[in-house]
Amino acid sequence: MNDTFLKACRGEGVPYTPVWIMRQAGRYLPEYQAVRAEVDFLTLCKTPELAAKVTLQPVERLGVDAAILFSDILIAVEAMGMHLEFSDKKGPVLSDPVRSKAGVERLIIPDTEDSMPFVLEAIRILRSQLKVPLIGFSGAPFTLATYMIEGGSTKNFLHTKKMMFQNPGIFNVLMEKVTSTVISYLVSQIKAGAQAVQLFDTWAGVLAPGDYKEFILPYVKKAISEIKKEGVPLIYFVNDCAALLKEIKKAGADVVGIDWRVDLKDAIRSLGKKLAVQGNLDPCALFLPKERLEDKVKDILWKGEFAKGHIFNLGHGILPETPVEGAMTLVESVHKFSER
Ligand code: CP3
Repeated sequence: MNDTFLKACRGEGVPYTPVWIMRQAGRYLPEYQAVRAEVDFLTLCKTPELAAKVTLQPVERLGVDAAILFSDILIAVEAMGMHLEFSDKKGPVLSDPVRSKAGVERLIIPDTEDSMPFVLEAIRILRSQLKVPLIGFSGAPFTLATYMIEGGSTKNFLHTKKMMFQNPGIFNVLMEKVTSTVISYLVSQIKAGAQAVQLFDTWAGVLAPGDYKEFILPYVKKAISEIKKEGVPLIYFVNDCAALLKEIKKAGADVVGIDWRVDLKDAIRSLGKKLAVQGNLDPCALFLPKERLEDKVKDILWKGEFAKGHIFNLGHGILPETPVEGAMTLVESVHKFSER
């Protein structure tokens, strides 16, 4: 069993810096494309044997130090009672977006065993096969709420911010329901065998720091303190985190995921010595020639030494156009240049 990743999360000594890649199972891998040629994305998420199969693909191909369950953050939104589809052009589409008190009241807090048993089954299959730790995940409350309110991807988050500013009462009830869902969903994943969990707050970076602190942080704190009772490491990733680090520091996570727009050394200085960090190579750096990519890896490894622990990752998900050799070079060079 390779537990380097879990040790780094806890800030314990490690023989080398562990690495995994956000969205490591995905379209840049031909073996993933082959599975997707046979089934649509949601069927893949909901068929435990197939979800387990594609989860293992990057572990086998790249030799990463952790696996992340193959699923999607919007699976839990669908389980709350919304209708979800993935379109090739527009990405996720949730019909009848939540914009009113009645819309919020209609939502349920799902029981994972009843409405998402395939997630727990995939975790059990994976734990019987993996030799690296398995990461479970959920969207963070705000990021899930944006999809529910907007009905899909958006540019300026108009409906979300309108609800937040004009109807904070409704927004808060929605955030409470989503937070309860996130807690119950991740506790179920951990009980089924997830050895660490990551909360994806992909869109929190669109908020002013004061609004993040007032409207979002209380729910993140609540979710993290409840999930942490299960005793596994928790990673909190906020995309575009630079301006929010002072607040993110208070969230209670063991590990903070950092995007590439901030210098890792500056991020560590803001977060202090008590937290581990994960990140933070620009996903487009995987398109660089080998030597230039290696230089960037060395620079981040060196900066990561200043934190309580460092898990190497990209600063956001790997892009579908990425050459597989770039991802292979990344993993090899992190291992090679960090050997202690
Ligand atoms: O990291 C992994 O390998 C695990 C799998 C995973 C997926 N989505 C698979 C996926 C994870 C952790 C996610 C999280 C997710 N999903 C997030 C948060 C992470 C982030 O990137 O910030 C968000 C915002 C979503 C919502 C989502 N899912 C969108 C906007 C899209 C469409 C955009 C796109 O890339 O096509 C998805 C689809 C999706 N989720 C794909 C994969 C592999 C592509 C679907 C396909 O195979 O066609």
